Amino acid sequence: MLMKKGLLAATILTISCSTAAFAHEHHQNEACGATTLHGYMEDIKDEMRAMSSDIKSGDNQAAAARVETLIAHFEKSRDQVPYKLKAEKLEGADLKEQMSNYEKGIDKTIDVFKNLEVALKSDDLAEVKKWLGEIGAKRQQGHQAFKANC
Ligand code: HEM
Repeated sequence: MLMKKGLLAATILTISCSTAAFAHEHHQNEACGATTLHGYMEDIKDEMRAMSSDIKSGDNQAAAARVETLIAHFEKSRDQVPYKLKAEKLEGADLKEQMSNYEKGIDKTIDVFKNLEVALKSDDLAEVKKWLGEIGAKRQQGHQAFKANC
């Protein structure tokens, strides 16, 4: 059981910071790394790390409370325009379409977090693992489509 908690915690750390190792390889364009959205995403990363610690120490109820904070960060992120779309100078119908896709991606991510919260509250580690995997996939999809390469 202890082992499994450790593995779940490790999974969260992987999701929250797998790009960190590459961060220094890119010469950070100032505008690119300094958006409001970037700040919210850093908050999401930090909260995920705290959630990982909670699971590791066996406090799934505290971890579930973190999900509420995470959802609030995603709701704020939803109102931001990704830097990539600004850099591409998208306008009109094109911008509208891409923003609609972005919002859907965020909404689906929030749905997965809601499922994770239920699993944490009922101490169902198999379900926790399942939804964490799904969160990793949502992150990858969202970053592939909307994160500028800088
Ligand atoms: C738990 C899941 C997620 C985590 C832990 C996360 C974390 C991060 C982090 C740490 C950054 C800063 C840059 C970097 O280090 O690569 C970032 C940037 C970004 N993320 Fe996420 N992210 C998640 C999910 C998503 C989703 C679902 C979307 C979109 C549907 C998204 C869209 C973006 C965008 C667009 C940026 C670039 C910031 C900008 O355009 O100003 N992320 N994310």
